[in-house]
Amino acid sequence: MITVDGPAAAGKSTVARRLARRLGFRYLDTGAMYRAVTWKALECGADMDDPAALAGVAQSAHIELQPAEDGLRILCDGRDVTTEIRTAEVTENIYRLADEPAVRRVLIEHQRRFGRRYDLVAEGRDQGSEVFPRAEVKFYLDAALEERAARRLADLRSTGAAAPLEEVVRQVAERDARDRSRPVGALRKRDDMVFLDSTHMTVDEVVEAMVAEVARRRPAQGRD
Ligand code: DC
Repeated sequence: MITVDGPAAAGKSTVARRLARRLGFRYLDTGAMYRAVTWKALECGADMDDPAALAGVAQSAHIELQPAEDGLRILCDGRDVTTEIRTAEVTENIYRLADEPAVRRVLIEHQRRFGRRYDLVAEGRDQGSEVFPRAEVKFYLDAALEERAARRLADLRSTGAAAPLEEVVRQVAERDARDRSRPVGALRKRDDMVFLDSTHMTVDEVVEAMVAEVARRRPAQGRD
């Protein structure tokens, strides 16, 4: 079990996916799980201010993460929602579910069940700090706010969208504040995590640094 925690747009998904491939592990994108239940809550018109209703949505959602050529395919109740879960509407509403302890309990149970079945690279905000505190290697991946915003902007541009850099900086800073102050499952860097600052590193360099660290701690797994 390897965990990768860190703030929004630090590059966690990209490196966690590549690290998983290198190690022959499954990649667990927990952000996609929070996105999928948010999508479902919006889709079925749930009362977004009613904790019990949101917990009910999480409980009834059947979320599948299927490995695909170019990453993961996300299914919610059998429907492919890989694209829909990345809309601004979903992103803006996630906190309503992610801040809700009853929702987190359901998803954490789901994540741990996954962890009992597979060797995982589990990525999110709380994977090393709360969900898998005894993981063999726990990474915390960060980058400077401006750099994370620039990466987010490049992503947006690649999909044809655009926004002024200052606006993206503001949005990323807002998500940081939410992720760090969440009453449960808040983003926390712990002393037993391996800290990587990717501000001046390429994706390849981050993945290589992680593979080297895993090899050091789990000699049988880190070899190519
Ligand atoms: O990594 P991402 O942007 O897809 O995550 C979407 C949101 O889900 C993020 O803003 C916070 C929430 N999240 C969480 O609360 N706990 C996790 N383990 C993963 C994501």
